[in-house]
Amino acid sequence: MKHFKQMVVAPLVVGLSTITGMWPAANAKEPAYPERPITLVVPFAVGGPTDAIARTVAQRVSVELGQSIVVENLAGAGGTVGATRAARAKPDGYTLFVGHVGTMAAAPYLFKSLKYDPIKDFTPIFRFPDTPMVLLVKEGSRFKSAADLLEEARKAPGKITFGTAGVGSSSHLAAEHLAATAKIRFTFVPYKGTGPAMTDLVGGQIDAMLDQTNVALPQVQGKRLHALALTSQSRMPQFPGTPTLTERELPGFLASTWYGIYAPVGVPKVVVDTLQKAYLKALTNAQFTDSLKKSGIEVLPPEVVGAGPLRDFTVNEQKKWQRVIRDAGIEPQP
Ligand code: MLT
Repeated sequence: MKHFKQMVVAPLVVGLSTITGMWPAANAKEPAYPERPITLVVPFAVGGPTDAIARTVAQRVSVELGQSIVVENLAGAGGTVGATRAARAKPDGYTLFVGHVGTMAAAPYLFKSLKYDPIKDFTPIFRFPDTPMVLLVKEGSRFKSAADLLEEARKAPGKITFGTAGVGSSSHLAAEHLAATAKIRFTFVPYKGTGPAMTDLVGGQIDAMLDQTNVALPQVQGKRLHALALTSQSRMPQFPGTPTLTERELPGFLASTWYGIYAPVGVPKVVVDTLQKAYLKALTNAQFTDSLKKSGIEVLPPEVVGAGPLRDFTVNEQKKWQRVIRDAGIEPQP
């Protein structure tokens, strides 16, 4: 059962909707958690890839839990506005956060005045599936291939306007990584999510962007956007005829977005155990996993998605992004 309602609850809240699971019969042996709806903070705009995957996961997990999950979009500053708010929430398991490569790994090296510590202020709960990215231009763009775009960027540094979901977002990190690898320069145009950036890309206000395949696919199929290249290791059947960047222009270049559910540090163990169990159960639901795979999302095996592996992964990703940001010469924001 799914209810969807939009409502503005604060200036920074872009949207709010309730995802309701089925209520099981009362059982005295059930854990006391969750007794009421859970708020899931999504730190990007409605309609973007984070929002889309978070709603799909939340909907299935809410069914497994027998409790509603309310998605709260709290966008801004590459996701760090939502992360700061979630880090300060009461650690009772009723406020959870969708963290990703940007907010949990790269942010400490991109923002000098970051108001949260991804490791000290959060408890990892489980890792979502990973989503590859795709280099997009509008249908009818002057760029017919990735080679065209890279060539113009080499000849005219900064001429190409490139949409991102803000400094430190995954779309920004992948684009910086692309620019550093190809030794080119873009002019970045930040939005509160790639949803609004995509609207401007279709409208011709910006030249290009990198986005996750899950929300790009319908735009490409609907011929509003053209997929120049994938950032995955191999081509994807969902994008017939689209090459990868690694196969020709940029050997070795790969980029994808990872996500995880985190809670403010100090949550009771029952919260971590219950949510992790619900997600592992969700992964056994073929309808759920097939719906993710259809849009190119890589569903990860159960042994890598738990709280422990997510903690280790977050720590390793921080080391990786510290290196990438330093090597790319990206100046941290004040
Ligand atoms: C990003 O980090 O680029 C996000 O995935 C954007 C979004 O969800 O809108």
